[in-house]
Amino acid sequence: MTSSPQQPRPELSLSASLDEAKVLIVGITAGADSTPELSGDAVLGADVAAEIVARLAAVGAKGKAEELTRIPAPDSLPVSSVLAVGLGKADDVTPEQVRKAAGVASRALSGVESAASTLGAFDLGAAVEGHYLGAYTFTAYKSAKSAPKPGEGPLAKIALLVADADKEAATTLARSAAIAEAVATARDFVNTPPSHLYPAEFAQRAADLGLAAGLAVEVLDEKALEAGGYGGIFGVGKGSSRPPRLVRLSYSGGVGEKAPKVALVGKGVTFDTGGISIKPAAGMENMTSDMGGAAAVVATVVLAAKLRLPIDVIATVPMAENMPSSTAQRPGDVITQYGGTTVEVINTDAEGRLILADAIVRACEDEPDYLIETATLTGAQLVALGNRTPGVMGSEEFRDRLARISQEVGENAWPMPLPAELRKDLDSKVADLANVSNNRFAGMLVAGTYLKEFVADGVQWVHIDIAGPAYNTSGPFGYIGKGGTGVPVRTIISVLEDIAHS
Ligand code: BES
Ligand code: MN
Ligand code: ZN
Repeated sequence: MTSSPQQPRPELSLSASLDEAKVLIVGITAGADSTPELSGDAVLGADVAAEIVARLAAVGAKGKAEELTRIPAPDSLPVSSVLAVGLGKADDVTPEQVRKAAGVASRALSGVESAASTLGAFDLGAAVEGHYLGAYTFTAYKSAKSAPKPGEGPLAKIALLVADADKEAATTLARSAAIAEAVATARDFVNTPPSHLYPAEFAQRAADLGLAAGLAVEVLDEKALEAGGYGGIFGVGKGSSRPPRLVRLSYSGGVGEKAPKVALVGKGVTFDTGGISIKPAAGMENMTSDMGGAAAVVATVVLAAKLRLPIDVIATVPMAENMPSSTAQRPGDVITQYGGTTVEVINTDAEGRLILADAIVRACEDEPDYLIETATLTGAQLVALGNRTPGVMGSEEFRDRLARISQEVGENAWPMPLPAELRKDLDSKVADLANVSNNRFAGMLVAGTYLKEFVADGVQWVHIDIAGPAYNTSGPFGYIGKGGTGVPVRTIISVLEDIAHS
């Protein structure tokens, strides 16, 4: 067994004093005549707050969203400096604005050991998530030559300043820290290079996490997949010397017969070369993120267990490496998906839907009420919605519910249709279905239409295409750095909570 290198995680606490903090983070809003306003004086005291705000105004701080201003601390404070972060107009301070401000502040304080923050006064949960995720780094594969030296690493300790650390505040902190930790776990998986994260290794790490959280774990290897009739996972995986897996992680939190049951499915292509329909070299390295959906569902089922949600959640996670070789599937091959549907593989680069279809059919055998599936499935998602907006398709009511919740948590999934006329574009002369259409239109919706064929009747389902949002190839922003983002962990856990509490 190989264990995953543990990344440093920030330590969060509630505090009524600045104690050991080196830097004080304050949230400021934009006042009427574009002067900054400072809340959080419940902890700092009115005099200190007034002194800080006067110094900030003197150096031109306005309180605009995500504006950063660093000033020397007033003598009466035990910290050496104050970092002010803007939240925009006081009336429009949303939880997402607090999350972004906290993330920006955490990122600005890399190299600082310990800070205290007033941002919890606006929204404690959002401040926790933003600070934690902004302080996330991934340095597992840097040797001593370039790894951060002591005193150069990310912000390690963050005290959320609250006047009265009651039980409710402690519960909020625990929940938000657990959510942020799950997002970080998903990021770690995505950021682990394909040399080190291949199907067997990914399966082992997922199983270890599941066992540690008390889940029931099942792993099918390539022999079991072939014998079991998983033609999609086997077909995609057979071109690689590193064989495929199917991981099942089950959490039973439901009490009684009528407890809701939710199936999660995530695409786990540990590297996507395209196979024989090989991709161009430029940017191919980004296909290390092609297991972003799998990473999210593994992290989320573990999180559901940690939060003790009163529902059943079963993650079914297909893992394969899509490689070209003499053992790879060919364009024109016909495979048989789990459950018996035959498919003409016209393009081996449309591999995600092949492994997902097997997993969806297997997941539906458990007779779930809901099925949430997510995948870095199509470049067309990026064409349609850009790199920060997941596209969500499926049962209309459930789709819209998930999209609304995703907007609320700042992951911003947007509902997309599955027009009925697209289905005939997937007809094949030789098999039940073709894996691609013969035109270049609506690629994201065609992929969703393909998956729909495999969802059992009566299951409320969604497919979330995260091709762009799972992986940030440009600069850091808000609480998101370069690389894996952990999207859509926060959407899925919030939907699970919504199902559990309705
Ligand atoms: N993994 C890719 C989709 C992708 C593209 C993810 C860009 C992240 C960023 C997927 O397997 C793929 O190759 N899809 C093809 C489908 C096509 C052959 C119908 C695509 O989008 O080009
Ligand atoms: Mn592909
Ligand atoms: Zn892919």
